[in-house]
Formats: sequence, C-alpha cells, structure tokens
Amino acid sequence: MKQNLQIDPERLWDEIMETSKIGGTPKGGINRLTLTDLDRQVRDWFKQKAEGLGCIVTVDDMGAMFARRPGQRKDVPPIAMGSHLDTQPTGGKFDGVLGVLGALEALRTLHEAGYETFAPIEVVNWTNEEGARFAPAMVSSGVFAGAFEHDWASSRKDPDGITFAEALEKIGYRGPEKCGEHPLSGFFELHIEQGPLLEAEGKEIGVVTGIQGIRWFEVTVTGQDAHSGTTPMPRRRNALLSATGIVEKVNAIALAHAPLAVGTVGLMQVRPNSPNVVPGEVFFTVDLRHPEAKTLDAMESELRAAITNACKPQNLESKVSKILDQPPVHFDQDCIGCVREAAKNSGYSMRDIVSGAGHDAGYVSRVAPASMIFVPCHNGISHNEAEFTSKEQCAAGAQVLLQAVLNYDRKLAERHGSKR
Ligand code: GLV
Ligand code: MN
Ligand code: MN
Repeated sequence: MKQNLQIDPERLWDEIMETSKIGGTPKGGINRLTLTDLDRQVRDWFKQKAEGLGCIVTVDDMGAMFARRPGQRKDVPPIAMGSHLDTQPTGGKFDGVLGVLGALEALRTLHEAGYETFAPIEVVNWTNEEGARFAPAMVSSGVFAGAFEHDWASSRKDPDGITFAEALEKIGYRGPEKCGEHPLSGFFELHIEQGPLLEAEGKEIGVVTGIQGIRWFEVTVTGQDAHSGTTPMPRRRNALLSATGIVEKVNAIALAHAPLAVGTVGLMQVRPNSPNVVPGEVFFTVDLRHPEAKTLDAMESELRAAITNACKPQNLESKVSKILDQPPVHFDQDCIGCVREAAKNSGYSMRDIVSGAGHDAGYVSRVAPASMIFVPCHNGISHNEAEFTSKEQCAAGAQVLLQAVLNYDRKLAERHGSKR
C-alpha cells in the first residue's frame, strides 16, 4: 500500500494549466509578481483547494502560507513540502508553481487514500521567492530562517516606492503568526531544473545535493545631471558611461572564474532617463554565483575594485550594498537519501545535481533538514515564457516528492520508536 500511492498526472497538469491563467501572458507564460492582486487570486485559489482537502491554512506575518493535514502525532512538527506561486515578469508556467501544486497533489493523494502519516504534512507557499518586485529573492524563507531581519525585509520597496509590508497588507495576506515561529521536521521542494543537464543526459529526476552560493548587490553610481547639448564632453560626469563599464566588468569577472561562475546585471535604472540629459545617477543590481564561497569572495573583491576604478576617471561617487548573501548550501543527507530511494523505487533514472538557481529550500535548510527534487525543463530555458516541462515529467516529480515525504515520515516514526 505504501509504495502504491500514485499521484494523478492529469489532475496535476490541469491545475498547473488552470492557475497559469492567473496572470497568463499572450506568449504562454505568467506575469504574477509577488503581492499583486494576481498573487492574491492564486493564493485564494490555493487556500480554497487546501481547505477542500480538510487542511487548516495558516499565514505568517511575511505572507507565507501553510496548509496542514494532521498526522497521527500532534506533538511532532510537520514535514513540509512546497515552493512559490509568484513569478518573474516574463515567467514560465512551472518555476515555483510545480513545487506548490505538485505538493498539493501529493497531499490530495494521501487524503483520498485515507493514509495516516506519523507527522502532520504541510504544503507551503513562500512569499516573494523571485525578488523581481522586491529585491532580494527568497525573502520570506530568508526571514523564516533568520537570514534577514523581519523589519528590513518588510521595508523593501518596489520600483514605485511601495513597501513589501504595504503590499502584503493590501492583498490581505499578513497573517498573525510570527515568521519563523513554525517548527518543521523536514522540508522537500520539487522544482524544474531551470538548466539543461537532466534533459541532455536523458535523466528523469535530479537528486539535488545543494545550491551554489549567491550574492546580490545594489549599486548606485552618482555623477551630475547636465544638458546634453551644452555640456562639453570633458566636463561631463556621466553615470551611465561608468555603469556600462561595470556591466562589462561583471561579465569579465564571471568569465575569469569559468566554468562555474556566473555574473549578471539584470536591473538598471537610469536617472533622470531623458534623451537630452547626461545621466546623473544610475542604480543597478549585480548577481554573482559560484558553488565555492572562496571564489565568491574573490569575485566580490573584483567587483568592488571594478566599481571604484570605473568611477575614478569622471570623479563619480558610488554606493554598494550587499542585499543577499546565501552561502553554498549542502542539503541534509537523510532528506537526500529519502529522495534517492523514492526515485529508485518509482523506477526513474536519476543523477545528483547542484542547483544553479536559488530556492527557498536553501534558507529553510538552516532551520530544518531539507532537500530538493528536480525534473528536466525543455532546453534548460527558465525565467522565460517559453519554459516547458511535460505532463509526465511534472508527474514524475510529484510522485517522487510524495514517496520522499513518506520515506521521511517513516524515518521520523522510527526515531520516535513508533512502528509504521
Ligand atoms: C531565483 O529565482 C534565483 O534567482 O535563482
Ligand atoms: Mn523558483
Ligand atoms: Mn525563479
């Protein structure tokens, strides 16, 4: 019976397609930025579905949602599974969504079978994983794990000057529970790989052993606004000119630490952004990643030196703040083992993999044993409306998620001396 619980691929696929209409784009993707009214709609949908399965849904003061199905033991913290329902502005249908809806399908399978787990089981929807509207990424799981101060995270502003706290209040999802005061026995996150390795090797499941280190910086370069027609070239203090030099340097820094390093400037605001004003100020972000902390240290020093050097010739000022520093993550061996066993028993081909993308499971792993399951995505394309994972691939991931959670539940029961 334990091995025979099967998730329903059609039902999972139908729900992925149904929710993809909330914020659906003409190119087949989703634009559902965190804490917008569209985010509220998908949260309402999730809450209603979970309550329909008899779950109690609670919300914390960072907006993270927890749908709980009781187990045999009330005194044992839940085993949670989940991901995020927010997307990038030109996001696909699967990033984050598969992890929440796959978890919901796994929970529904338990519900319909009347299967009683030892620990309670939860499905979690973390707030603002993407960091697209409010930087940095993974902000609610970060507060949950103590990596960010609650007040700092709540005061982050979107490009219109609206704070995270205001937006959360507006959609009615600031819950009473203090973020982080929610013990977990374990956490499992199903996600699309967002890279090309599984597909290239024809593997169905990625057993995720860790996540590469990630650092984000906000940089402001300040010169002087000046008339574009009257200010002679030698007198200009053009912030954009230096900023573009830094963009090139970020690329060069990543290439210098090939093959594993990556570096990106993905957001830039030119001020005042007028055709006939020499730009006096430029604000941009830098995203640096590498699996080794010491290489990231070197990349960070090179970035700081590049900014200083780029500002010198025009006598510009610069301000740099590090807003995200997620050291390389090594997932829990027991959780990894449960995923591996689940993939093996379900008959899927697999390989171990280190995640290039950041995930909520990375922060959660600081406060609870955690690991992840990857499924392939077509051509490795993600953060793109063309992102695609097939119905069968989604189903394989959800099946392994369910089995991994049940494996972990049995381990917990054994640890508590209860026979399953
Ligand atoms: C999360 O989407 C990341 O930036 O890796
Ligand atoms: Mn994601
Ligand atoms: Mn993402």
